[in-house]
Amino acid sequence: MKTRRPMVAGNWKMNKTIEEAAELIDALIPRLQEYNNIDLVVCTPYIDLPVAKEKLEGTNIKVGAQNLHWETSGAYTGEISAPMLKDLCDYVIIGHSERRAMFGENDETVNKKVAAALAVGLQPIVCVGETLEENEAGQTDEVVGRMVREGLKGLSSEEASRIVVAYEPVWAIGTGRTATPDQANDIHKNVVRPILREMFGAEVGDGMRILYGGSVKPSNAAELFGQSDIDGGLIGGASLKADDFVGITQGV
Ligand code: 13P
Repeated sequence: MKTRRPMVAGNWKMNKTIEEAAELIDALIPRLQEYNNIDLVVCTPYIDLPVAKEKLEGTNIKVGAQNLHWETSGAYTGEISAPMLKDLCDYVIIGHSERRAMFGENDETVNKKVAAALAVGLQPIVCVGETLEENEAGQTDEVVGRMVREGLKGLSSEEASRIVVAYEPVWAIGTGRTATPDQANDIHKNVVRPILREMFGAEVGDGMRILYGGSVKPSNAAELFGQSDIDGGLIGGASLKADDFVGITQGV
C-alpha cells in the first residue's frame, strides 16, 4: 500500500478569465468535497488567484500559481515574486516544460525559483521531463536525472520534504500520447526516486510525491495512479473541464 498522500493538481496554463475561473471553481467544489484523502490543487493564472482563494477558502481544494520570479521585488517588469504570491496560494509550479522551451528557463533558474518559493512557505511542484528527441536518443534517464539534481541542488532534507516532483515527458503533453503506466512508473521508481533518496536520505526521498503529467484523462487515470511510484497527476487540458477533472480524481 502507498503511504504517500496522493495529489491531483490542475495546471490551467493560459486559460480562464476571472469569470470563467469562478464558474469552474463553483462547479468543482461540491463534486470534489468527498475526496478528503487526496491533496487537490488548482494552479490558475495569476489574475485568477484572488477569486480562487476567496472561493476555495475552507474547502479541500488548494490554490497554486504557475510560475514566480526568484527575486523578492524590484525592476522586473511583468514578473511576480514569491512574497507577492504567498498570501494567495499554497503551491507553485516551477520549471514547466513550456516555460523551459518558450521562456528561457533552465535548471539554474528552476533552482533559484525553488529556493525563493520555499523561503516564503510556498510548496513547489517542480516539473522535469525529456523531449521527444531526447527520448528517442535514449537520453531520458540522463536528462530527467540532471533536471532533478540541478533543480533541487543545495536544498536541505527538510526543504525537500515540502517539494512535489512532476515527471512530464514533453512528447506526452497536449499530444494525446500518454506514457504507458509502466514507462512512467519506471522513470519515477528507477530514475527520480533513487536520486531523491541519494540527495535527501531514504526517508525523505521515499516520502516525496512524484506526479505524472502528460495527456492524463479520466480513461487512463486509474491505471496510471495505480502504479507503485505514481503518486498522482499534474493535469493540463483535462483540468479545464469539471467533468474531466472530477473523473481523473475518481481514478486515484
Ligand atoms: P496535458 O494534460 O494537457 O497533456 O498537459 C500536461 C501538463 O503540461 C500539465 O502541466
